[in-house]
Formats: sequence, structure tokens, C-alpha cells
Amino acid sequence: MKEKRVGFATRIGAIAATVGSAVGLGNIWRFPYQAGYNGGGAYILVYLLCIVLLGIPIMMSEFIIGRSTHKNMKGAVEQLTPGSPFKIFSYIGVLGALLICGYYSVVCGWVIEYLWNSACGSLLEHAPEEFSNIFGTFIASPDCCVMWTIIFLTLNFLVLSRGIQKGVERMANIMMPLLFALLIVFCVNSLMLPGSTKGVDFLFSINFDKLGWEGVVDAMGQAFMSLSLGVTCLITYSSYFKDDSNLMKDAVTISSLDTLVAILAGIVIFPAVFSFGLDPKAGPDLIFITLPTIFQQMPGGTIWAVLFFVLLFFASITSTISLSEIPITFMVDEYKLSRPKAIILTAVQMGIIAVLSALSFSTLSDVTIFGKNIFNFLDFVGPNFFMLLGGLVTAVYVGWILKKDVIHNQLTNGGMHRSRFVQPYIIFCLRYIAPVAIVIIFLYYTGVI
Ligand code: PHE
Repeated sequence: MKEKRVGFATRIGAIAATVGSAVGLGNIWRFPYQAGYNGGGAYILVYLLCIVLLGIPIMMSEFIIGRSTHKNMKGAVEQLTPGSPFKIFSYIGVLGALLICGYYSVVCGWVIEYLWNSACGSLLEHAPEEFSNIFGTFIASPDCCVMWTIIFLTLNFLVLSRGIQKGVERMANIMMPLLFALLIVFCVNSLMLPGSTKGVDFLFSINFDKLGWEGVVDAMGQAFMSLSLGVTCLITYSSYFKDDSNLMKDAVTISSLDTLVAILAGIVIFPAVFSFGLDPKAGPDLIFITLPTIFQQMPGGTIWAVLFFVLLFFASITSTISLSEIPITFMVDEYKLSRPKAIILTAVQMGIIAVLSALSFSTLSDVTIFGKNIFNFLDFVGPNFFMLLGGLVTAVYVGWILKKDVIHNQLTNGGMHRSRFVQPYIIFCLRYIAPVAIVIIFLYYTGVI
């Protein structure tokens, strides 16, 4: 029964699937553009602090809930604390996942378009200064953008409906190390460009004047986005973890790998940005303008480009699969829908959000919410509101409500090993640091501070 709920997450593959969920466009597309937008080094420092003080503890809290019950959020809360109103918060996860996956699929559509154009040889035949216009023209073309987004979503739901996630995960397990290797090759290449040291300085020299409160909000949201926190995804995944796996070790491994990929992406992008005189504040366009310039410099550029976009596609689809599973599992478990029906309903809902987001740069560019177009609005509220709120709820639930012996049992695997420092650290972060930090951020948005 359990295996049926999330077909691909067999116990053995669960950790690999979690890495698959974590590593995606969040690391390679979103992290560099956010770092560029928020002035580089200081943003990265705050991001790293968020990973250590909030990310790892909240990841642990999701693991504790999932693995102690082997259920999803709602069922788990019912089992651990019968009658607790906390189960209501599983709706935040479902809504957050729908919105995030909706706009995320648009970027996945951009990835396939770039893959297609690289394979046809048409991407790299342009002069470097044209890449910005090419990207602008592409996203401003409603048909093209909607078409690639729908192609991506179709592939995503085809994988889910065929139950071949396991196969895709297995492929991704081969692709992920390859992506890693490729990023290292690109890093070396980028660092050898003339004037690249300015990019390295930008990434690693810490200047808080450039950051501001908004940058802190962004860094926090990005840490949650990158580690797939706050939307109950990791609760579901960890419900398939083996009882003898070491949760803290897993959380540290997953977070370190994920952060390493993001930093490597930064080292690929910024030296090139400065070397070619591009704008580090270009926003969501950043990698789509910078990467082609890098490929063009490399011998056999087309092959590198195709390889990179194929790998990026795999990294992205393992993330969208995990996001799509949240509403699907929820509908199957809570509304007793058959899996095919739940898949169709999720596909329709996400499809609508995705199409609206894809049209944000063309037909619907005049539609703004809080001064942002639909895509940018979702890119803001998804991580910076839904994920942070979900994270706050999980932190409070595990830190304050859940019985200490459940936590102790999970951290020590029933007393098999010690958790002298780990347990107080996790509890302290969940009880005080995460709630205080997230509440301050919410007060900041709402203009109270
Ligand atoms: N962590 C993924 C990324 O970095 C995105 C994601 C968020 C996946 C939430 C699942 C749940 O691309």
C-alpha cells in the first residue's frame, strides 16, 4: 500500500530521490540570479547561515514526522498527536506545491526550448550580445512559451501516470554526478576567462550595504526552496526511509550536496558575467543569457550545451515529480480519489497556473499582483511565504508540541546511537531560532517593522 502511494520512492532509493527533489532549477537557475540580484557575497553568507540554522533543523523536523509514522503530513499528525489542529497545515503544503510547480514548469519549458535550439545548432550561432534579446523575444512570445511549458508538464505527468518515476529517478542517479562533473568543467572554464576575478570577488567578498532586508528575505526563501522545505515533500519522502538510516547524517549530506551544487553554479555564472560585461542583476534571465556565452567559448560548444540542458532537464523533472506528488498523494489519501483521477486533477490545476505564468511576459504582462507580474509574484510568494510558513509550522510542531521521546527515538534510532549535541541543537533551532527568524520576516513584509 505504502509503495503504491509514491511509486518511485522505494526505501532504498528514498535518499537518492530526496537529493533528486532538492537539486534542481532552484540551485542552478534561481540561486545565481538571486545572488546576483542581491549583491553577491553577503547574500551567500546569509544563505549559508539559513541552511545551518534553519534548513537542516527543519529538514530534520520533516524527517522526524515522516519516518516516525511512515505517513504523509496529515496522517502523521493524526497519529502522533490525535485531535491536533496542526493537520490543517497540510493544506499549505498542497497549495504551495501547486503554485510553485506551476511557475517552475515555465522555467523547465525554457530549459527544453534551449535544449532543442542547442541540438538544432541554432542557439550558438548568434553573436554573444544577442543572447539577451533572444531570450527576451522568446519569453515575450506567448505561443512558444506556452507550448514548451505544456510539453514539459505533459512529460512530467506522463512519467507520473506511467508509474515510471523509479526509472526516471534511477536515470537521475546517474545524471546527477554527471551534472556535478559538468559544473566543475564549466567552473574551470569560467575561471579562466579574462577578468573572471571580478566575478569571484562579487561572489565571495562580503558587503552588507548591498544586501538589505529584502536580500535577507530572499536568502531565507531560497534556502527553503533549494532544500524542498515547508511543503511537506520531505515528510512524504522520509516516510520511506529505512528505520536504521541516520537522519542527521542524511540531512547534512543532502544539504551539503545541494549547497555545493548552488555554489558551483555561482562560480560558473559570475566570472562569465563580469568577463563578458553582462548585468549580474539581470534577474530570472541570468543563466539563459550567460550560459550560451560560456558554451560559445568552449571547443565543441554545441555538445556541451546539449549535454548540460539534458542534465538540467533531469534535475528539474525529479523536482517537479516530487512537487506534483504532494497534491496527488493528498487527493488519493484524503478524498479517496483513484490515482489516475488525482493525476488528471493535479495536471489541470498546475496546467492553469503554468499557462498563466508563461503568459506573464507577453499577453498577461499588464496583470500585476503587488506590483509583480504573475510569474514573479509566484516566484516570490512560493518560497518566501508558503515555504517559510510551512517551515514555521513544522518547526513549532516538532519543537514545542511533539513528545521529546519521539524526537529522541528518531535521532538515536531507538537508542542505537547517541545524540548528545545533535538533539539540543535541533530542538533549540526549532524552538527559538526558526520561529523568531520567520516571524520577523513576516512582520517585515507586512510593514510592521
Ligand atoms: N528543491 C527544488 C529545487 O531546488 C524545488 C522543490 C521545492 C522541489 C519544493 C520540491 C519541493 O529546484
